[in-house]
Amino acid sequence: MDHAATTPLRPEALAAMKPYFDRRYGNASSLHSFGQEAGEALEESRAAMAGLLKAKPSEIYFTSGGTESDNAALKGVASANRDKRHIITTKIEHHAVLNPAEWLSKNGCEVTYLPVDRYGLVDPADVDKAIKSDTALVSVMWANNEIGTIEPINEIGKVCHEHGAYFHTDAVQAFGKIPLDMRNVDLLSASSHKLYGPKGVGLLYAREGVKIEPLLHGGGQEHGMRSGTENVAGIVGFTKAAELAFKEMPREMPRQQKLRDRLVKGILLDESWLNGHPAKRLPHNAHVCYRFVEGESLVLMLDGEGIAVSTGSACSSKSLEPSHVLLSLGLKHEEAHGSLRFTLGRQNTKADVDYVISKLPPIVERLRKLSPFKSAAEAAAFIPTEHDEHGHKHG
Ligand SMILES: Cc1ncc(COP(=O)(O)O)c(C=O)c1O
Repeated sequence: MDHAATTPLRPEALAAMKPYFDRRYGNASSLHSFGQEAGEALEESRAAMAGLLKAKPSEIYFTSGGTESDNAALKGVASANRDKRHIITTKIEHHAVLNPAEWLSKNGCEVTYLPVDRYGLVDPADVDKAIKSDTALVSVMWANNEIGTIEPINEIGKVCHEHGAYFHTDAVQAFGKIPLDMRNVDLLSASSHKLYGPKGVGLLYAREGVKIEPLLHGGGQEHGMRSGTENVAGIVGFTKAAELAFKEMPREMPRQQKLRDRLVKGILLDESWLNGHPAKRLPHNAHVCYRFVEGESLVLMLDGEGIAVSTGSACSSKSLEPSHVLLSLGLKHEEAHGSLRFTLGRQNTKADVDYVISKLPPIVERLRKLSPFKSAAEAAAFIPTEHDEHGHKHG
């Protein structure tokens, strides 16, 4: 139940990739037939991805994953538009956006980090207020990787275009999971391993005409936007997985949502609440805060029962810092530490959900008995009225 971290490679993607590891191993840039065979697979993949995004093949660049695509979008637009030095993003982005933004702020750019409301939503009016005449790029994620909140992407994109700024969205958690309205999007990042494709491959969509410079210079592959011999097998596997994800979406979205709702109903206990927006959220995401419990202890005890969940994003799960996303919602440090993320996937069943529902409550109870937070709170007869805004269940 940790599919936001990564997903298993689906057999159809593996089967599509296999020939490109041995028989069809050519370099897509070679003129001979081995090369042409690989080149054709690459261009077929590009056309297929363009079809999924209702884009032109020339607007799709394959990369090594979501992190590279985000870096390419932020740094690439900043370096191609040196007359515009301002960038806007949000406080709840993945570090693949926050860290290049921070790097840019140390290298001549001014960066504005927009706040979110208690559900994690960005207000398009805040984008409007923050945009200046020298804003080159606004970057707002499509769906948050921790709490699953889906942002008003079309409205934000509209505001950017009224002011002549480019709009980038990190769609790593949304691509292949929910329908994407691309009307006001100029740049989009996606990653293969979140949708049952191989790891180490992703894409950057950049609308025709967007001024962007490459991150990698070399042999000029990917129309000069991303040099380096192409990962043909990975790209073929990514494309197969994406095609199937889009095809299965009308069936999988409601199926996973139903399972998720059953899960939430079963695991919301006293002194717990759902983080993120109740409705505007990824259909497979549940993010629950348990007061008086440490998320890490919960993760380890659930792991002992064969249940894989996480406290936040996989990349920062080894850090002891509370999640920047949860703090941005207004949660206290100890509340952020007591949160768990469940992200369902295509192989999860009702039996899996019922298994979690049977295992989790006694573990929470056991940990709470040991909790120093709980005894301190009880001693002070602490009544947590300020948590009502999070949909907190009392008593
Ligand atoms: C929202 C978001 N952006 C970017 C990334 C990074 O993608 P990749 O692992 O393909 O580099 C992730 C991965 O966790 C993510 O969730």
